[in-house]
Amino acid sequence: MTTPPDFKRRTLVKALATSSLIPILGSNLIACSNSSNNSNNAIDSVPADFNHGVASGDPLTDRVILWTRVTPVEEGQVVVRWEVAEDAAFTNIVSQGEGVTNADVDYTVKVDAEGLQPAAAYYYRFMTGDKTSPMGKTRTLPQGMVQAASFAVVSCANYPAGFFNVYAELAKQDVDAVLHLGDYIYEYSAAGYASERAEELGRVSEPANEIISLSDYRTRYRQYHSDPDLQAARAALPFIIVWDDHEVANDSWENGAENHNPSTEGAYAERKMAAIQAWYEWLPVRPPATMEDIIYRRFQYGDLVDLLMLDTRHVGRDEQLQYSDFASGGIIDVDSVRAAYNDSTRSILGSEQLGWLREQLNQSSARWQVLGQQVLMSRYRIPSPLLEALDPGLVSEIDLAKGTAALLAAVEAKGKAPEERSAEEQALLDSAIPYNLDAWDGYSAERDEILGFAQQLDSKLVALAGDTHNAWTSQLRTSDGKVAGVEFGCTSVSSPGFDGPGLLGPGNAGLFGPLVAGLIDDLNYTNLVGRGYLHIAFTADALTATHRFITTVDSKDYSVNEAASKTFVVQRADMLLT
Ligand SMILES: [Fe+2]
Repeated sequence: MTTPPDFKRRTLVKALATSSLIPILGSNLIACSNSSNNSNNAIDSVPADFNHGVASGDPLTDRVILWTRVTPVEEGQVVVRWEVAEDAAFTNIVSQGEGVTNADVDYTVKVDAEGLQPAAAYYYRFMTGDKTSPMGKTRTLPQGMVQAASFAVVSCANYPAGFFNVYAELAKQDVDAVLHLGDYIYEYSAAGYASERAEELGRVSEPANEIISLSDYRTRYRQYHSDPDLQAARAALPFIIVWDDHEVANDSWENGAENHNPSTEGAYAERKMAAIQAWYEWLPVRPPATMEDIIYRRFQYGDLVDLLMLDTRHVGRDEQLQYSDFASGGIIDVDSVRAAYNDSTRSILGSEQLGWLREQLNQSSARWQVLGQQVLMSRYRIPSPLLEALDPGLVSEIDLAKGTAALLAAVEAKGKAPEERSAEEQALLDSAIPYNLDAWDGYSAERDEILGFAQQLDSKLVALAGDTHNAWTSQLRTSDGKVAGVEFGCTSVSSPGFDGPGLLGPGNAGLFGPLVAGLIDDLNYTNLVGRGYLHIAFTADALTATHRFITTVDSKDYSVNEAASKTFVVQRADMLLT
C-alpha cells in the first residue's frame, strides 16, 4: 500500500497560490482586446506555426474557451491573433483580439471569447505572422426553453494502445458537446501499460520515461496532440472535460496514487501540481477565478439539462481500500471489507464538493440532472471467490479457470428460486462484494447518501462514467431499493478493457459480459470487448443512449461496428431501464 505523503489539500492550495501557476494560467488566457487597439505592436514576435490544432471548450451562453498552441522557430515571445465568426469564410467576425504566449505556458494560447449569442454555432481561427491555424467550429449553450440536447461521451485515450479512431468518429458527430470523462493521457513509460504494440503502430510514448515533471507532462500532451484524429475531434466540437487518475498517476486519490512512489519519484504534491498545470495549459478548460485543484462545475442546457461535472479523483478522495489488506491466504474476509467500504466517514468527493453537489441538485429545476464524472456509481458486486481468482491486486496471476467456475456456479445459483438453492449456493451469492473498490462502491455510504438525497428530491439523475474501458448500463437505486436514476459507463477510446492482455482476453470477455450482467442486480448490460463512445440525447420526456463501437484500434482501416451497437430509451416519468 502506498504510504501517504504528509500533505493536505489546503497545502496544495497554498502551494499553488505561492507558485507561478496563477500568473501562468492568467497569461495564457490572452486578453480579449480589439486587434486594432492593442499594445503588442512593440513585441518582437518569433515566427511560429500551428502544429497541434485548435480546440474549444467550457461553453456558456455568451462565451467559450478557445485554444491553440504555437511552435516557434526559436525561444521567445509569440504574438497570436484570434477571430470568431458566424461563417466559415470569416466575413462576419463577431469577436477578435490578440495576445502573447511564451515558454512559461509551453506556447499554449487560451482565450475566453465573449460577447457571443446563445445556442449559436461559430467558427474560429488563430493567426501569427503569415501563418493561420486550422479552423475550429464551436457552439454556445442555449438558454430558456430547450427541446433537445445531445452529447458524445468518451474517456480513456491511450496513445500507445492504438489509433484514435473513436476521436475520428467524434469529429463527424452533430452533438452539442463532447463530454470527456478523463484519462485524456496516460502517465506510463514507453515500456508501460498497454504499450505491447506501440512500436508496430508507430505510437511509442514520449518521453520514454514515466512522466513526473512539468516538462514530462508537457511533452506527453504534445505527442497526444500531434494525433490528427484528436485534432479533428477538438476542432469540430466544444469539449467539456474532467480529469481522472492518469492525468496525474494511476489510482490516485487526494494525497497520493498507486503509481507514485515518493521515495523515488519525489513529493506527490509537486507531481500533482505539475500535472494540473500542464492540464490547464493544454485543455480548453476555463481556469477557476481562484486557482485551486477544483474542476467540478455546472453547464446549463436551458431548462432541459443541468450538467454537473464532478471530480471523484483528486480534490477530496480518501485513499482506496485494497482487497489485499482484507485477505489472508488469498481468502477475503467479507465482513471486515464490508465494514470498511460502508464506513460513513469515507469520502470520494470531499466535503466541499459534496455540499456543492447537494446544493446543485436541490436548486436544479431542469428536466434532467446529469453527472459527468469518472468512476462507476451503481452497485457492481460479485461473489468473493471471483475476486479471489481474478483480482490483480490479490493474486500475482489471475486464475481464469477458477474464476470461470465461480462465475458459472454463481449464475446457476442466481437462476434458482431461493428455496431451491443449496446452503453453499446461497453462501456464494451472499458473499457478493464490489468488483472495484476504486469506484463509488468503495465509498458506499457517500454514494448511498447522494442517491437517497436525489431520490427524495425526485431528481432525474443520469450518471455518466468512464474509467473502466468497457461499456455499462445500470439502474441507480437507493440503499432501500428505490429507483434513483440510471447510469451509462462509456468504453474507452483505445485503452484495453477486460478483453486486454493479462485479463480475460477477448474471447472470455465476450462470454463473461452477459453472465455478469445476469448476476448483478442493478446491471442491465455490459460489453467487455469493444472500444467506442456513448451517444446520449435528451428531450423533455425521454433520453436515448447508445453505446457505439468501432471494429479496431490496431489500424486506421476501421469501420463502425453497427452489430455491437446497443440503445437504451429511458422515460423521464419512471426512469426505468427496460
Ligand atoms: Fe483509463
